[in-house]
Amino acid sequence: MRLHTTAAAALLATAGITNAVELNIDDEESVKQAAKTIAYGMVKYYSGNESGQVPGLLPQPYYWWEAGAMFGALIDYWYYTGDETWNDITSQAMLFQTGPEANYMPPNQTKSLGNDDQAFWGMAAMSAAEQKFPNPPDDQPQWLALAQAVFNSQALRWNNETCGGGLKWQIFTFNNGYNYKNSISNGAFFNLAARLGFYTKNETYLEWADTMFEWTRAIGLMDQNYLVYDGSDDNINCTNLNHYQWSYNAGVYLLGAAVMWNVTEDNPTRQAEWETHVRGIIKGASVFFKDSIMYEVACEPQMNCNTDQQSFKAYLSRWMAASTKFAPFVYDLVTPNLQASAQAAAQSCSGGDDGVTCGTRWTTGGWDNTWGVGQQMNALEVVQGMLIQKASGPVSNETGGISRGDPSAGTGGDSAPGTPTSQITTGDKAGAGILTAVILIGLLGGAWWMIA
Ligand SMILES: *[C@@H]1O[C@H](CO)[C@@H](O)[C@H](O)[C@H]1NC(C)=O
Ligand SMILES: *[C@@H]1O[C@H](CO)[C@@H](O)[C@H](O)[C@H]1NC(C)=O
Ligand SMILES: *[C@@H]1O[C@H](CO)[C@@H](O)[C@H](O)[C@H]1NC(C)=O
Ligand SMILES: *[C@@H]1O[C@H](CO)[C@@H](O)[C@H](O)[C@H]1NC(C)=O
Ligand SMILES: *[C@@H]1O[C@H](CO)[C@@H](O)[C@H](O)[C@H]1NC(C)=O
Ligand SMILES: *[C@@H]1O[C@H](CO)[C@@H](O)[C@H](O)[C@H]1NC(C)=O
Ligand SMILES: *[C@@H]1O[C@H](CO)[C@@H](O)[C@H](O)[C@H]1NC(C)=O
Repeated sequence: MRLHTTAAAALLATAGITNAVELNIDDEESVKQAAKTIAYGMVKYYSGNESGQVPGLLPQPYYWWEAGAMFGALIDYWYYTGDETWNDITSQAMLFQTGPEANYMPPNQTKSLGNDDQAFWGMAAMSAAEQKFPNPPDDQPQWLALAQAVFNSQALRWNNETCGGGLKWQIFTFNNGYNYKNSISNGAFFNLAARLGFYTKNETYLEWADTMFEWTRAIGLMDQNYLVYDGSDDNINCTNLNHYQWSYNAGVYLLGAAVMWNVTEDNPTRQAEWETHVRGIIKGASVFFKDSIMYEVACEPQMNCNTDQQSFKAYLSRWMAASTKFAPFVYDLVTPNLQASAQAAAQSCSGGDDGVTCGTRWTTGGWDNTWGVGQQMNALEVVQGMLIQKASGPVSNETGGISRGDPSAGTGGDSAPGTPTSQITTGDKAGAGILTAVILIGLLGGAWWMIA
């Protein structure tokens, strides 16, 4: 398919510079080769499979959740390319971090474990089930059961004491952020519920997805124009919002809504509503594109994205591509932007000692002297997404799914709402307090495009 955007034309005009990941989006082999180069650059940061290291952890400054996101990207990598190079380290990590209840709540992470962190691992397990990633050994938790366990433990945390419902950001009362109800936690629950509903055909998940989506809209985390804001504070009953907009929040709701469109096929009225939602979210997400190239609007222009935020474009890319499989009308709406972004991302992968290190900004026509897991993952997801139409699936348990579920997985132990399992240390408090201060600035300032 040809590109029609002026941005793409401008990029093509500057093509031909020596060190860069080469990418011809119309050539399957070229896309696979580019994805492999970029994935190699990402996995270089990981040493959890080496002896003496902990499987599933990235070194500082990467938080635990981002490792879950990275293994999700490697599951996608295998799905798109068929290359098994990193399947073993992926399975090893995905199974090592499940925790005693097999619901992605490992005790080592308790002092900062949010619903969103848990969900990123759960969504990776869900992708593994949908994409028929090789099953774990029989005596280990299975992908579908892991996703169900995350869902079940979070459904228990539905909190209607404030804000009319929703999930809190944090799981444990002693962690700062316990009073915050944010879009990524609630959106990830919605995303997972919809996908579990699609996979298992169990209506209970779909009812939860409906409930969550309605709550998100009612409280204004997603507004009338389908803009998705970061979160709100339940100390003020969610009467004011933190208006930062992050690309992954649009993405996480988009995929869930596309799945809901898919599963409401037998009810034209409801399906039409979901189509409106899907189209609205895509339109709202245009704030993350500049001349068709994806950018993290709240921090990229100032170049002050933190480590987490450096990876958000990966998830908008991932979920936009995935949405086209569930709701085919999405393809024409997102493809021009994704194609331009993939080309621009590949151009940004032209730095470092290896000459193929990816940068933060795709809008500059080259490498911007930054590097990291997030930069590699962003480029990987948008580039490999070029193969979406050639990829098979996603499957459900009626269309070839091979993952074994457990509808009651993950409902014991640590998953009870707010159960403290360890004492917080002074050091942890100080660290997390900074986070709270940032949230407060966001709430009071309300200037979502600027981070002080
Ligand atoms: C760890 O994984 C990397 C990437 O797949 C591989 O190159 C390396 O040999 C592995 N190390 C061990 C000890 O298996
Ligand atoms: C938890 O931390 C201990 C000590 O570092 C380590 O031995 C263990 O493998 C870790 N477990 C997980 C699941 O990360
Ligand atoms: C609050 O949620 C619980 C389920 O978690 C439900 O049983 C209860 O009816 C809800 N209360 C209100 C006021 O919605
Ligand atoms: C808190 O917000 C919810 C949802 O908007 C509303 O139903 C409830 O009445 C509010 N509670 C108070 C005490 O204002
Ligand atoms: C799919 O899962 C649902 C709900 O668990 C079950 O009722 C149904 O029998 C399953 N279908 C197949 C083909 O396994
Ligand atoms: C459907 O999902 C709900 C919620 O997890 C679970 O309680 C119920 O057992 C499931 N039903 C079937 C038939 O699997
Ligand atoms: C729903 O998604 C499945 C999986 O991608 C796909 O095969 C099916 O055609 C979709 N349904 C519709 C109505 O597009």
